[in-house]
Amino acid sequence: MHILEIYKYPLYYEIAFQYRDIEGECDFLESQLELQATTSNRRILDIGGGTGMHVVEFARRGYEVHSFDIVPEMVDWVKKKCKQQGLEKVKVWIGDMTDFKQRLHYGLAINMLTTFNYLLTNEDIIHHLKAVADVLDKGGLYIIELTHPRDCLGMEKSTLNQWLERRGDIVVEVDWDYEVHPVDPITQVQERLVKIEVQEGENRRSFKMKQLNRILLPQELKALVACSGAFEVVDIFGTFKEDIKLDSSRKSWRMIPILRKL
Ligand SMILES: C[S@@+](CC[C@H](N)C(=O)[O-])C[C@H]1O[C@@H](n2cnc3c(N)ncnc32)[C@H](O)[C@@H]1O
Repeated sequence: MHILEIYKYPLYYEIAFQYRDIEGECDFLESQLELQATTSNRRILDIGGGTGMHVVEFARRGYEVHSFDIVPEMVDWVKKKCKQQGLEKVKVWIGDMTDFKQRLHYGLAINMLTTFNYLLTNEDIIHHLKAVADVLDKGGLYIIELTHPRDCLGMEKSTLNQWLERRGDIVVEVDWDYEVHPVDPITQVQERLVKIEVQEGENRRSFKMKQLNRILLPQELKALVACSGAFEVVDIFGTFKEDIKLDSSRKSWRMIPILRKL
């Protein structure tokens, strides 16, 4: 398992990704839960939850929300943030999405910002899907945010991969794909190099990191979901908006499947 060093620095990670519309994403996730789930269970599990941006938003909305992440620094960060904000219905722990078990059941599991692409083999993906199904109620949903297929095939870029964010005297400069290697045609794994420069007052730090991503296309995703025997694909969206389905238009820039547990 290859873990990016930046995940050990939750503050810098959070600043780098603070441009996201987390409230809008949670509106979409919440409305899918209401529209597509056939269980009344409203407990939520965030898999690879990172700094807990969705966890905090859902907890503020009154949900009981749990999350795990493989990096202890991320887990500590979420615990601290929730304590500071008096969010009591949150539980966070260290865990690995390739293999996990949990006694409680959920109505919704989420996997955001292409974390799922760290599952590199078909075996890991199917094993993971079965593990998620085991903690969901029948009729519960698993919603995954994946890269748009056009990006996977190197046809065009749907996202800006260089950006800068600041908070107070901290400036974080990101070059997410400063070197992209060709996809291995056999394993469908791609190596990308990520560069993050942090200026904090007088101090400058530079992170140069290798990341391995599985290239996953929609037909293959549907086949893997069918192989798991645990879910049906209810819909696939192209962004966090109900009127934008996955297609080849520019409005569609993500691949967001809605899986329902059988
Ligand atoms: C791209 S970040 C996304 C974080 C968060 N979901 C968000 O939307 O901001 C990926 C996260 O997945 C975690 N991660 C990577 N591999 C993992 C694994 N095998 N099991 C659990 N978490 C993992 C990383 O530590 C990191 O926090």
